[in-house]
Amino acid sequence: MTVAMSAVAAAAYLHHMELTSADPVRLAEYYDRVMQMRAEKLDADRWICRGADRTLLISKGRDKTLGFAAFACRDAEALAGLRLYIQGQNGVIEKSPSPLFDDRAFAVRDPEGNAIVFGVAKTPAGAPSRDIRGPLQHITFGSTDLEPMEKFYAGTLGMTLSDRVKDENGRMTTCFVRSTHEHHTVGMFLKPEAGLDHHSYEAGEWTTIRDWGDHLGALHEPIVWGPGRHGPGNNLFIFIKDPDGNMIEISAEIEYVRDRPVKEWKHEPYTLNSWGPAIMRI
Ligand SMILES: [Fe+2]
Repeated sequence: MTVAMSAVAAAAYLHHMELTSADPVRLAEYYDRVMQMRAEKLDADRWICRGADRTLLISKGRDKTLGFAAFACRDAEALAGLRLYIQGQNGVIEKSPSPLFDDRAFAVRDPEGNAIVFGVAKTPAGAPSRDIRGPLQHITFGSTDLEPMEKFYAGTLGMTLSDRVKDENGRMTTCFVRSTHEHHTVGMFLKPEAGLDHHSYEAGEWTTIRDWGDHLGALHEPIVWGPGRHGPGNNLFIFIKDPDGNMIEISAEIEYVRDRPVKEWKHEPYTLNSWGPAIMRI
């Protein structure tokens, strides 16, 4: 029973997320212009930005803060199974804050207080378009205490551990879990402060990162890290920064994982970027 439920939990993909911002209008304009996600006002303090397979909500609030990350299950039965599984793991179920899932959706909070929502998508993850490919794919958090975070995602939520990074003293400094065949849908980094680290759009192929680079260059939007290749996940990447300071990754060729042992990586810059300079979190 537990195994079957865990398999249900492992089939949810990142459908949308919400950022909060002191200046939601400025942030919505940025995602509209730079990330090709058309911004529309949803209500007084909330915007929705939608592009090809990517949706972001922006609400009035504190800068550089995640409102929630919302994962879509394949159907209502899978969602109900996941809810039962999480309750069986003593997870505390809360009301979903997302307007994009129906009332069967629910939320849970990880040990750092991040709200993770599960539901069934009422609409596709984005608007159909001819824009540059880049579905919203993963989210990562900073954490001051990684072990309870790993236990929550890989235990309470039933996601699957892909890789860990450990320092020379055996302390875990990074952890990646997956809820699909892709290497990670959630990552967590040991950092002095908890909170959102970055969110990522998966361009699929390297040549699509080229297209993003050309697009960003035409807008005079600087790439702040990369191009490079991560060790864990083996994905190619570039990073940009939005006006609030949120780090945005555009990734390609992320590893597809099927039943392989968990890998352990050394905590060093070349693990984070096998092509050179790394932004070390600790
Ligand atoms: Fe990433």
